[in-house]
This record gives sequence, C-alpha cells and structure tokens, in this order.
Amino acid sequence: MTSGVNIPHNKELFFLEFVSALTDDVESNKNVYNKIADEYDDLARNVHFHSANHLARLCMDNLTESMKKNLDNCRVLDVAAGTGLFAEGLRAAGFTGRLDGVEGANGMCEIAREKGIYSDLRNGLITLENPLSFDDDSYDVVVVSTALTPGHVPDECLFDCIRVLKSGGLLIFNTFLLATTDPSGVKLKSTQRVVKKIEDDGLCKRVVELDDKMFDLDHQYHKVSKNVLHCYQKN
Ligand SMILES: C[S@@+](CC[C@H](N)C(=O)[O-])C[C@H]1O[C@@H](n2cnc3c(N)ncnc32)[C@H](O)[C@@H]1O
Repeated sequence: MTSGVNIPHNKELFFLEFVSALTDDVESNKNVYNKIADEYDDLARNVHFHSANHLARLCMDNLTESMKKNLDNCRVLDVAAGTGLFAEGLRAAGFTGRLDGVEGANGMCEIAREKGIYSDLRNGLITLENPLSFDDDSYDVVVVSTALTPGHVPDECLFDCIRVLKSGGLLIFNTFLLATTDPSGVKLKSTQRVVKKIEDDGLCKRVVELDDKMFDLDHQYHKVSKNVLHCYQKN
C-alpha cells in the first residue's frame, strides 16, 4: 500500500457528494445510485475502492474442493450486485461457473447487464417484506458486497441469503464503516449483532474473518474506514 496519497480535489468532491447523498432511506438511495450509475465504476477506481475484488479473491480462495472440481456447475448469487464489480473480479480470478444477481437500482442493473457476466440479473429492492425471489437451497455461494448498511440491504436479509444457499454453501460479505458517515460505529454494530446471531443459532460456521482495507491506497478516507471480509459456511 502506498502512503499518504491525496485524491485529486475534484474527484474527492465527487466521492464526498455521492457518500453524503446516501441516507437511511432505501428508496432515496436508489435514486442516488440511479443518478451515479454511469460514473460508478470510475468513482470506485478514483478513490481506489476495490473491496469487491477483495471479496472475489476471498470467495475463490475458500471454494470447497467439490466446488472447485465442479467449477463450471458452481452457482453464485450476487445480492445488491451494483454495476457487477464483484462478478467481474470473480471472473478475473478464474471463476467459470454461473453468476446470478439482484440489484435494486435499475441504472446500476443496466450497466451490470451490459457487461454480460450474469445469467439471470433481476432488478428489485430486497427488503424484509420483499425477500430474495430465488429458490431455497439453490446456490453454492451467496455474496453481499458492500451493501449491508442502513438504507441498503437490511442486515436481517442475511437469513434469507442462507435460505437460498445449499447446505455446505458459502456466505460471503463485508461489514464496514466510513467514519464520515458512521462516526459512532452504530451502524456497523447492528450488522455485527446479526452476524453473531447467525453463528450462535448454528445456521453457519465461520470460515474466515479478515481485517481488510476499504481503499487500496492510504488516502484521507482510508484512515477513517474499517472493512472486514467474512466467509461463512452453511451447516
Ligand atoms: C456500494 S454499492 C455496492 C455494489 C456492488 N455490490 C459492489 O460491491 O460493487 C451498493 C449497491 O447496493 C444496491 N442496493 C442497496 N440496497 C439494496 C436493496 N435493498 N436491494 C437491492 N439492492 C440494493 C444499490 O443500488 C447499489 O448498487
């Protein structure tokens, strides 16, 4: 990691504008993501935000032996897929199986579809009242990349992700905070409580928990961010 890098002023403002526009309201955030969809990949690159790639590597590193042997038949579901950065990272890491997804903002969904990586990418907001429209026990891997935070995918939806996972399947996600938007860490704590419950209730066992960096360069936001990558296996 390089030290003390500054993001160019105009790119920093753009990033700040985007982050500050996000609230705890999922509908209003959908509009923010729709507005920014065309520029989202550039925005992520500009602030060196590559968490989706890190999760993709974590996923590849933790596929079970039987998944690796049967990689072409391995099925991954990407929840809150955005513009498909996780899926791109997974393909780049050598994944040859099937990728499906669901994404709330139609603008983000369109960009992801243009990349041609997903077999079945559905457009719809996941809420507690509107759970995943995928079958029980149907995926080898379910991922939620940088979307478990208020105004996004509710933490409790992790239980629904476990529902669609096959037994022995992997649940991959990150818990994170950016101190500029969550100074007391209260949002992060809420996700951590749900993660603990998944383990305590015996739904999944922990495979890996990895302290990661939200950004790949040591810039002003890196210093006030926290990002933990998780891999759980369904019992
Ligand atoms: C920070 S982006 C991350 C996108 C992608 N997973 C990645 O890692 O690049 C969050 C994404 O979650 C989507 N999203 C937020 N809440 C959602 C919900 N309840 N259901 C579906 N998608 C949601 C947003 O539209 C946005 O595309």
